[in-house]
Amino acid sequence: MNVTVRGRTRHYRTVTFDGKRNAVLLIEQRLLPHRFTLVATRDYHETAVAIRDMIVRGAPAIAATAAYGLAQGARAFRGHSLPGFTRHVESVFRTLQAARPTAVDPVNAMQQVRAVMATGRSVEERQALALAAAEEFANQDVRHCEAIGRQGMFLIREGCRVLTHCNAGWLACVDVGTVTAPLYAAESAGKRFHVFCDETRPRSQGATLTAWELAQQGISHQIIADNAAGHLLQRGEIDLVIVGSDRTLGRTGEVANKIGTYTKAVLAKRHGIPFYVTIPLSTIDWTLKSGMAIPIEERDESEVLGAWGVVANPKLEIQSRSRRRRTYVRVANPSSHARNPAFDVTPAELITGIITPVGIFKPEELWRRRRELGYRG
Ligand code: MRU
Repeated sequence: MNVTVRGRTRHYRTVTFDGKRNAVLLIEQRLLPHRFTLVATRDYHETAVAIRDMIVRGAPAIAATAAYGLAQGARAFRGHSLPGFTRHVESVFRTLQAARPTAVDPVNAMQQVRAVMATGRSVEERQALALAAAEEFANQDVRHCEAIGRQGMFLIREGCRVLTHCNAGWLACVDVGTVTAPLYAAESAGKRFHVFCDETRPRSQGATLTAWELAQQGISHQIIADNAAGHLLQRGEIDLVIVGSDRTLGRTGEVANKIGTYTKAVLAKRHGIPFYVTIPLSTIDWTLKSGMAIPIEERDESEVLGAWGVVANPKLEIQSRSRRRRTYVRVANPSSHARNPAFDVTPAELITGIITPVGIFKPEELWRRRRELGYRG
């Protein structure tokens, strides 16, 4: 998407690859919205750390990063032995897979890259195929998001008030975003609407990333505290809820997404408000048979016990550079500890529809429509 920094507008993808340096290039998302900067990871270990430490985050974005990371690792191999190369690639795969456990997209993306690589007859051929396949995964993600926009735009009616949780915008993907795709498509069609961004504690991806993306695009929005959604739903101030997903079970229609998504789905059901989930096909897990089997990432307690931000004077809109330095502030009682599950699972019966690149489906329809949705079992 286009980013305007200090009056200059340029198009960026969240994740790209520099073939000459064998480096993955990432937008440093932990510094947004206060600073826009790119970082390069020089080897696959650094790429895995960037995923783990959330320089890059969002299921499709970490998938593209893992796909490039696999190619990066493959390209770093020296030698001509195919068995040695295969063992090395397996170890790269395991390292990247372990970086974050809940999203299935990185695994699906790396499997896609490995399947293409397997058609090469030499190490050199496989190294070239790995990068081409990673580029194709990234391009496919963009195409999927654009298609989600075309499928979902009709849900955004004139004057619609939309609630979203966390960030499933272009920063969470390679470009365009999943939740934001129907919004951008509706905006291009001239519709007016308003977005409520859940703050999304503990890491505040809604307040920092989604709000920044919508502001960049000039879309009407407000940030709300996570606890405010029930009140707005009760007063009839929200017409539609749309969220992303880190893993959608093809067999049951259950959806793992950012912690707090389940709460919003329960509230939406209570108030008869449609609750939609947007997914590229890489988010579908065709294997697991129950949401209880989804590995839920538990992150460091410091995320709950405090918050990251910049020191700011609320009266000044533009802060000086030194004031924009990111700082951690302890909020909680000093002697208390915290529990920090990063995702939860929403049951199928709370979901009105799943917006995919090939259509909008009821959660229970996914398995029946599995061929259209890319199942190759
Ligand atoms: O912990 P994060 O920021 O990676 O969590 C991101 C989400 O939960 C998104 O909603 C999900 O990855 C879908 S992004 C299209």
